[in-house]
Amino acid sequence: MNEKKNKDYKKPQKKILKGTAKEYNDIQNVIAVMSGKGGVGKSFVTSLLATALAREKYHVGILDADITGPSIPNFFGLSGPVMSEDKILNPLLTHLGIKVMSMNLLLPNKDQAIIWRGPMISKAITQLWGDVKWGELDYLLIDLPPGTSDAALTIMQSLPLSGILMVTTPQNLSSIIVRKAIHMAQHVGVPIIGIIENMSYFVCPNCGSRQSIFGDSHTKEVEDAAGAPLIAELPINPATAALCDQGKIENFESIGINKILETLIQKDPTDPLGGN
Ligand SMILES: Nc1ncnc2c1ncn2[C@@H]1O[C@H](COP(=O)(O)OP(=O)(O)OP(=O)(O)O)[C@@H](O)[C@H]1O
Ligand SMILES: [Mg+2]
Repeated sequence: MNEKKNKDYKKPQKKILKGTAKEYNDIQNVIAVMSGKGGVGKSFVTSLLATALAREKYHVGILDADITGPSIPNFFGLSGPVMSEDKILNPLLTHLGIKVMSMNLLLPNKDQAIIWRGPMISKAITQLWGDVKWGELDYLLIDLPPGTSDAALTIMQSLPLSGILMVTTPQNLSSIIVRKAIHMAQHVGVPIIGIIENMSYFVCPNCGSRQSIFGDSHTKEVEDAAGAPLIAELPINPATAALCDQGKIENFESIGINKILETLIQKDPTDPLGGN
């Protein structure tokens, strides 16, 4: 684990939102979970982190910015309808009170495909941000879709991001594609809070040995490109994957997410959070 501290991450000033719901909203920290690479566990990490923060009694929201392939409602077992008044949308609440807004919650049929070009995607994201009554939040986590095009650009350029958590997996291909996302963040000037290596290893349920399913890790190259620390290595955990499929991710048990929490809330690492 890389012990170097990320000096770029500072708690930002309170931001004022734009949009029809702006008078209701007061959000302290907006954190994007990004990768560039598809299927590495961005939505998984976003959901676990939101749950861990909610368990610590923080007020948390998740903006599912994956307009064409949203997963967050499924992980939390949420479905519409979303209630609205005067064009202001009310987020749905999870069991722990996490506020969730996703394009999939606004569709009459959850299997319906969104077939839009970039400008429509960007417009939808700005509406999910500004026309939603988020209320007072300590953390709004934004689950990004894969890639470095419209959605990522809109979020980086139009929303007051505190920083980005960059998710990767051990493989070389992940490292190559995630470095593109890092360069994008650096180009746009958004700080990278830290790197999360997901699917780092698997603990054999029979003998307890730690196995590197994907071989040697290439995440050091990602850390070097980002100039940001590796803050967590998450195992492949079939029990948590099953909870995702059942819509019960809030029931997860220890998987190492507390390292990310410590970085975010800048708690003393010697003060274990326990249970996360
Ligand atoms: N550490 C893990 N252990 C077990 N299953 C995992 C782990 N990380 C992710 N998964 C599972 O892998 C699948 C893909 O994860 P997820 O949807 O979070 O990836 P993503 O990066 O958000 O994908 P996309 O690019 O499509 O948005 C999900 O079914 C999730 O439950
Ligand atoms: Mg996803």
